[in-house]
Amino acid sequence: MLAIIGGSGLTRLSTLEALRREVARTPYGEPSGALTFGRLFGCEVVFLARHGYGHTIPPHRVNYRANLWALKEAGAKGIVSVASVGGIRPDCVPGALVVPDQILDYTWGRSNTFFDGLGALVRHIDFTHPYDEMMRRRILDAAREAGEDVIDGAVYAATQGPRLETAAEVDRLERDGADVVGMTGMPEAALARELELPYAAINVVANYGAGRGTSAQGVHFESVEQVLQEAMLRVRNVLARLHQQ
Ligand code: HPA
Repeated sequence: MLAIIGGSGLTRLSTLEALRREVARTPYGEPSGALTFGRLFGCEVVFLARHGYGHTIPPHRVNYRANLWALKEAGAKGIVSVASVGGIRPDCVPGALVVPDQILDYTWGRSNTFFDGLGALVRHIDFTHPYDEMMRRRILDAAREAGEDVIDGAVYAATQGPRLETAAEVDRLERDGADVVGMTGMPEAALARELELPYAAINVVANYGAGRGTSAQGVHFESVEQVLQEAMLRVRNVLARLHQQ
């Protein structure tokens, strides 16, 4: 069974044939919302809305540990994360779908490990390649089948939020090598690795990064909404083909 974590713009999967919902409890507290079990064109999936079904949980308050733990407990064998981002690299324009292959982590103060000491042996996961390559391929193949253009490979910068970046911060992110910027990619990816859950992401570019393109004078939320709505239809189209392999 595949898990899908939906971000901004994807709190529900309309194409999901929902069979049951389950409120999960974990040693780390409650996940963002009930897990929705169902079938996506015949494939068994479990869906979780990262920010809650009413979109009320900001990125720095998401209980990433509970979310990942609950999905593992529910029997997920892999995770596809859907998350919106700001675009930095010139080809990462609003509306583009991106399957990132690297991460820069600027978040702080988040519960970012299951290996928290407390009497257990210290463990360090390998995170050289933070996304699972097989899962990335599955997404890329599904996109090809769906006829949707996706960008294969990008460096995802995870910022703390919830505010957007300053123009100078986006410039610095670019100098650091970042191609897109979002607020939820970490610690989610690292926690999935700790639980040995293959994890990859589809990033939806919602806007130019602050100070760039049409965001030169500011990020315009109305257009962000519009871009996300349209792009999520294409994401759903890709997700629908994930299972057929
Ligand atoms: N910055 C950070 N996170 C985001 C952005 C952005 O510009 N757009 C969507 N998520």
